[in-house]
Amino acid sequence: MSQNQASMPHGAAARRGPFRVGDRVQLTDEKRRINTITLEAGGQFHSHKGILEHDAIIGLPDGSVIENVEGYRYQLLRPLAKDYVLSMPRGAAVIYPKDAAQIVQFGDIFPGARVVEAGVGSGALSISLLRAIGDTGFLHSFERREEFAEIARGNVDTVFGGEHPAWQISIGDFQDKVVELEEPGSVDRVVLDMLSPWECLDAVATVLAPGGVWTNYVATVTQMSRVVEAIRASGQFTEPECFETLVRGWHVDGLAVRPDHRMVAHTAFLITARRLADDSQGIPKAKRVKEHNFAAEDVSAWTRDHDESEWTPEALGERGVSDKKLRRAARDATRPARVREQE
Ligand SMILES: C[S@@+](CC[C@H](N)C(=O)[O-])C[C@H]1O[C@@H](n2cnc3c(N)ncnc32)[C@H](O)[C@@H]1O
Repeated sequence: MSQNQASMPHGAAARRGPFRVGDRVQLTDEKRRINTITLEAGGQFHSHKGILEHDAIIGLPDGSVIENVEGYRYQLLRPLAKDYVLSMPRGAAVIYPKDAAQIVQFGDIFPGARVVEAGVGSGALSISLLRAIGDTGFLHSFERREEFAEIARGNVDTVFGGEHPAWQISIGDFQDKVVELEEPGSVDRVVLDMLSPWECLDAVATVLAPGGVWTNYVATVTQMSRVVEAIRASGQFTEPECFETLVRGWHVDGLAVRPDHRMVAHTAFLITARRLADDSQGIPKAKRVKEHNFAAEDVSAWTRDHDESEWTPEALGERGVSDKKLRRAARDATRPARVREQE
């Protein structure tokens, strides 16, 4: 590594310069079909349009257009983080770039921040958090399943071209581990993406500094209601704010200028709240809905009296993932690092 590269923020060098062995490259063909490959010395990309030699790509500048032996053209680009996240090996569902962007902004993730997150899943959000805190921050990610953590490590290493100096993963349940490993009141920001974030309320209240921001990412309205009511009832946080983000692409071609026909209509809801100082009590929201207008059972149907064991992935409409698929994702995620090591 040159002296110039050594002084760059971690991962910057891997995003610059000509294509190298171990790089991920996005190939867009003449029909705008996209394939992502990892460059290997002597490697080949096969399609029904013929063979493209990796050696013909290695050394070319990013953004080149190349022809394979049959004369079929490909546009070559290093994937941006947003492209990588959508194509990377995954075990658990990832946080989409549109939501990660909102988490960085509304969760107020700043350079140098001490951030904790759970679960790490496939590491998609970890990538955005690490980019936002930079080398001088600290991201402590908690994941209860080692198999998922392995996939996340591979994905994060691929994006940054090696281990990130500001990142640590701890295996175990967030609510137990974070209070063992982080000092009370020492964490600037917390981000949770898991089925039942309300189980972590006491742990979050313990480690989060006064004024610190807690962001929750949940897929269903029932989870949103449950976590909001729990935050409110604790009195240790500000009134939670809830929102979702819809991003609609546009088709722009001559006079045919219109929204795209298809879009990602739903991913999740974001809920943010800030930790109050220990001797302060939250100011309750002025209630528009009077308590006597609904029965306690109406609320408990999906909020705080609900049986914990009922909050299963299946009940929330999530699909399980087989051990075989997890093993394959881990192998794929760690492949670029293995190729780099062989060089
Ligand atoms: C949807 S995934 C997270 C995806 C991740 N945010 C990403 O962008 O790739 C949810 C993860 O939370 C983990 N999890 C659930 N409850 C947990 C807890 N209490 N502590 C730690 N991890 C937990 C699950 O094992 C799963 O990997």
